Amino acid sequence: MNKERKLIIAGNWKMNKTVGEATDLIEALKRELGTQTEVDVVVCPPFTALNAVSAILKDSRIRLGAQNMSEQGYGAFTGEITAGMLRDLLVHYVILGHSERREYHKEFDVLVNAKAKAALAAGLKPIVCVGETLAQREDGQTDKIVGDQIAGSLAGLDNNQLKDMVIAYEPVWAIGTGKTASTEQAQEMHAFIRGKIAKSHGEDVAKAIRIQYGGSVKPANARELLSLPDVDGALVGGASLEVRSFTEIITNTLN
Ligand code: PGA
Repeated sequence: MNKERKLIIAGNWKMNKTVGEATDLIEALKRELGTQTEVDVVVCPPFTALNAVSAILKDSRIRLGAQNMSEQGYGAFTGEITAGMLRDLLVHYVILGHSERREYHKEFDVLVNAKAKAALAAGLKPIVCVGETLAQREDGQTDKIVGDQIAGSLAGLDNNQLKDMVIAYEPVWAIGTGKTASTEQAQEMHAFIRGKIAKSHGEDVAKAIRIQYGGSVKPANARELLSLPDVDGALVGGASLEVRSFTEIITNTLN
């Protein structure tokens, strides 16, 4: 697929996979995808499987991501994980502000912003998630909600930092529901986000930053979504838990 920016396709395993299951999945993915360089492939296992997956990925092109981290550097924060601990395991990316964290753990833009700064300071690339709920869309608030999430999550970050980041547009109503945004809806929102970034950080940054689509991406719809001009990748939940479906999402985009 001919794209202005290199595609980045990430699997968000969420709260799934024991170490044994993660090992089986990543060994199979490594066989299928470990040497291709056309698309950046990232897997984001739960914290408990990062070490095992990292060891398997050492000599592969697949990159490792985490699903969350603390904004704090170290210390008495029971149950939390720092950016430095993730880097220690050769983690490259970290998902921040996923809608499930926003909804169930009340993580809002100020915190997402602090986490993004801590991630970047440690050399991790944040994948910052934004997206509206169905009620917000039906109420005509989509641009306002997503615009505010972008402004709040990226506040105070400079142009160089932004170029290292990934944005994931994930309409909440499409996550895990089998409903996908139409190609028109996806392209419209991706162009809107890129336009916002052009205004805040300039055209060069807006042209360079990669914006993933997320929400029920599967082999049957991936190619169409990923061929949209402003869609530069996918954040895949359910379909990333199986070798065949995740592999097909990627191979379907290859020329
Ligand atoms: P889904 O999840 O692909 O299962 O809809 C996407 C996500 O939450 O990142």
